[in-house]
Amino acid sequence: MIAWREDMGLGIEGLDEEHKALVNLINDFDRCKSRKSAYHVAQSVLAQTKQYFQREEELQAAFAYTNLPLHHSDHDRIVKEMDILITGAFLDHRLNDHAAILMMSEWMRDLFIGHMLVHDLKLRQAVLAGEANHTPFMPPHIASEASSQLSAAL
Ligand SMILES: [Fe+2]
Repeated sequence: MIAWREDMGLGIEGLDEEHKALVNLINDFDRCKSRKSAYHVAQSVLAQTKQYFQREEELQAAFAYTNLPLHHSDHDRIVKEMDILITGAFLDHRLNDHAAILMMSEWMRDLFIGHMLVHDLKLRQAVLAGEANHTPFMPPHIASEASSQLSAAL
């Protein structure tokens, strides 16, 4: 179980709500009773992860975040590894359902926690330090939330 804490967020309400929902979905995974239902929940986690990562990267681009290339490559790695590991556990018939669900759950947690502790923490520190103040580009769909939420967070 990943316990959401406010310091896991960026202080930007819309993005933080998406991040929190993703963490909750990963936690819901443990309630799956069959490999098939776990696989479907895992596919939802994967789809929401891609969506959240895209939004986070748009924000980073808008803020001219210096670590964007590295952060982006870690997002790509997570999505690819998650897809391979989930499918591998689903198809591995040497594992019983309980073992397959447990493996999927542990991999998802490890991938997420590892990324949050290294890359998302650096992003949060940059946002809080005001690196976001030189803004060459602001996508319209995040402009309003970013400007109000960021000024409140800094
Ligand atoms: Fe990230």
